[in-house]
Amino acid sequence: MTRAPATPAGPGRPRASRARQRQRLIDACISALHVHGPSNTTVEKVVTIARMSPGIVRFYFDSKAAMLVASLEYLAAEFEEQLLGPVGALRATPVPALERLVEIYLGAEIASARKVSVWYSFWGEASSRQEYYDICGQRDARFELLVRELIQRLIEDTGSVQLDADAIALGLIGVLEMLWQGYAFQTESTIDRAQARRRCMAYLRSVFPAQFPAAGGAPDADDLPPGAYANARLHEAERTALFAGSWQFVGLERELAARGDYLTLDVPGARALVVRGPAGLRAFQNACPHRPHALLAARCGRVDEITCTHHALAYDLAGRATHGAAPALSPLELAAVGGLLFVRAATGRPGAQPPAPAVAFHAATLALVAAAPPAVLEVDADWKLVVEQWLDRPGAVAATAAGAEFEGEAQARVAAGWSAARYLALGSPEEPAQPLQSIVLPNQHFELRSGCLQVVLVLPLAPGRCRLYLFDYRVGHEERALRARTYLAARLARLRLAADLALAASIQQGLDSVGAGPSPADRLPAPLAEFRHIIAGLIPGARRHPGDPP
Ligand code: FES
Repeated sequence: MTRAPATPAGPGRPRASRARQRQRLIDACISALHVHGPSNTTVEKVVTIARMSPGIVRFYFDSKAAMLVASLEYLAAEFEEQLLGPVGALRATPVPALERLVEIYLGAEIASARKVSVWYSFWGEASSRQEYYDICGQRDARFELLVRELIQRLIEDTGSVQLDADAIALGLIGVLEMLWQGYAFQTESTIDRAQARRRCMAYLRSVFPAQFPAAGGAPDADDLPPGAYANARLHEAERTALFAGSWQFVGLERELAARGDYLTLDVPGARALVVRGPAGLRAFQNACPHRPHALLAARCGRVDEITCTHHALAYDLAGRATHGAAPALSPLELAAVGGLLFVRAATGRPGAQPPAPAVAFHAATLALVAAAPPAVLEVDADWKLVVEQWLDRPGAVAATAAGAEFEGEAQARVAAGWSAARYLALGSPEEPAQPLQSIVLPNQHFELRSGCLQVVLVLPLAPGRCRLYLFDYRVGHEERALRARTYLAARLARLRLAADLALAASIQQGLDSVGAGPSPADRLPAPLAEFRHIIAGLIPGARRHPGDPP
């Protein structure tokens, strides 16, 4: 994992940095385990994925065995934090608790193909390793206890005393296990989580039909009504629930090589200014604390200090006012992931990890430069219609809404010896260049092809209307033929984007005039169904149930 800290040194930084490095090794270890299993995972394979030196492993772990155990403990702690805790807190209301349990157990956060396969590989070796047996066994025992308790309470609440709580709980756990086993042999792009949830809820419905009716409770209809694509109330709800505090791409670390180099970009919740100061990169609101106008109007440049031209206040590159007692610039959170820079408004509360799109692995190996300033486009289509087209392509893999799940497929490919060259092969008869796409929900698309990185951010502008930022980065080839290929790759990406936008605008018109939904829920590819599921789950009233009017 190439996630790197980009905030400056300060009190507590060394400890935070060590924790991040350790976590980076654990993430890489999970990826190596996914590909090689516990027996064949080596320190060398882990550090290759983590892009760290072998010596650093010894700093954090006494042995390879200790690293594997730490990785398993991490997964167990995540299971506790993400599922057992939140669902246990709902135990007084067993119906919502069981719905939540199914939702989380089958969701991308804890049940990515990568993590599920690692759980099974540890179980496979548990008979010969007591630590594995203890950790896996404790997790399973706590889960079984919780499921049994919820079922027992539901039986009592409904007066269904003829039912056997143990047998029903065992049946539910069995259904969940079978679905997890299916995940373990798939890729993120082929896992159909909506279908898995429907199956699980169908089991519960077969036992408690009144408590889990088909059209209510569990989210088994992931279609959105046409009104969801041009509705003022939903527009505001999306901005609050999905965009506020989300990580947004702002540029490349390479663009800020020298002291005083800066980038600016207006993203949801943040008018971002990223600048290289004496202690490294910092991010601030690009707004004067006195009156909120943009301090730096250009997209990029180099400054010695940041000056408010209106009242001549100046700030140093650490954001402090250089004269008087004026307030400092408001900080933003900043993360550098494989050379890709992301910012988000500093909320003061713990939140999602920065996104880690698969392209970051490969973009980090290339000397990319901005081919042009970012283009800004406004489109008569809801932002979701643009994102849905990305998710409707074969092989689309989307990070979760929180952006916390590393794209395990890419890690697995790297671990298995795939190289950037394979993705970026400049075309051979045997193996034509394949584009590598990453989608960071809710709104960012990365495509790497033939030495060209295209990044698109789509932002809600108004109900049924969106704004796009288009970033175009390329490798500066010396050779003419390679330059031509890179130019053609960039042109191809632009042409496809133009086609996407024209189609989105046409669908929007169709929604307004014809009134039909964008596409029936039962024919959606899994990533698109998951996207609608996330939208519908975050925005009460957005979900359309069977039998609802179109
Ligand atoms: S507006 Fe910037 S210092 Fe007054």
